[in-house]
Amino acid sequence: MRIENPRIVSALPGLGVELRHGALLSELTSLGIGGTTDLLRIKKHETIPDLLNLLDVNGIPHKFLGGGSNLLVSDGELPWVVLQLVPLEPDVVLEGNFAHVDAAADLGRTVTFCAKNNLGGMEGLIGVPGTVGGALRMNAGAYGMQIGSYVREVKLYRAAGRKIEILRGNQISFEYRHTSFAPDDMMLAVTLELPSKPFKEILQGIRICNEKRRSSQPLGQKSAGCIFKNPPGASAGRMIDELGLKGHSVGDARVSDRHANFFVNAGKARAKDMLTLIADVRERVHKAYGVDLENEVVVWNA
Ligand code: EPU
Repeated sequence: MRIENPRIVSALPGLGVELRHGALLSELTSLGIGGTTDLLRIKKHETIPDLLNLLDVNGIPHKFLGGGSNLLVSDGELPWVVLQLVPLEPDVVLEGNFAHVDAAADLGRTVTFCAKNNLGGMEGLIGVPGTVGGALRMNAGAYGMQIGSYVREVKLYRAAGRKIEILRGNQISFEYRHTSFAPDDMMLAVTLELPSKPFKEILQGIRICNEKRRSSQPLGQKSAGCIFKNPPGASAGRMIDELGLKGHSVGDARVSDRHANFFVNAGKARAKDMLTLIADVRERVHKAYGVDLENEVVVWNA
């Protein structure tokens, strides 16, 4: 979608928004898949309600993009514009055991910055691509931890009230890869309370998680992490592997040879290919195990 209306285009800089016409979502997602639309880069939090009001009254649909690392976007001209936060400087501020983190901060860099300041707890998330806001929304987790356990406060734009609000950690429910945020809430900042630990000890944990991840996941390839959530008490990756589906492909969309719950873009995969592969694998798992796998990857299907 292209924003042509000169009244809107000229209002954007005053709202702290940079407009990029014709952004390619394939360049903004780790899967390397996705069509074209206008990208609005937000440099100020306070004006977000005015920006969204401007889009709404002019009938311009929008979606919020985090780091694009858990996302599958349709091909072609997309029917909505995309909003993305530009990280504020500094993006992490420490205060005792609290880390105040901008939602657009890179997750890995945040984990290492906290580690260097003797704040641990998030070792498991090392190697998970994306932003802190994206990790928060999905309640990202690995190796027995989840980010939600450390959340004390969240600043967000709530679509329901059309305003920026602060929620305390105990007002939010964090479940396995799921939170109580509404789909159109936009994460702006989070305060984490992290346990004190010597840097050396945290580094050891980081190395162990890194090693586990390197040996079991296709890190160098274009993927969106795990495609399906694990069903209770089981592993989607193991089930898909047991069905002999590693390497199974539709066009350039392919089940990873390394971890069967990672589907990779092995070349020029289109969203259509990836969606067909997802549906096919889901159906095979259902037939074999009677289990309906639920997507972990977020799909923006135009
Ligand atoms: N397994 C196989 N074949 C495979 C993949 C896995 O047999 O192709 C087996 C493994 O050998 C292991 C079991 O399945 O015995 C579980 O595998 P793994 O330890 O890799 O964990 P997972 O359940 O597949 C989950 C998360 C990952 C997270 C890892 C590590 C989900 C959907 N996946 O994977 O998160 O990194 O544990 O904690 O919850 C993600 O969220 O995108 C993601 C990749």
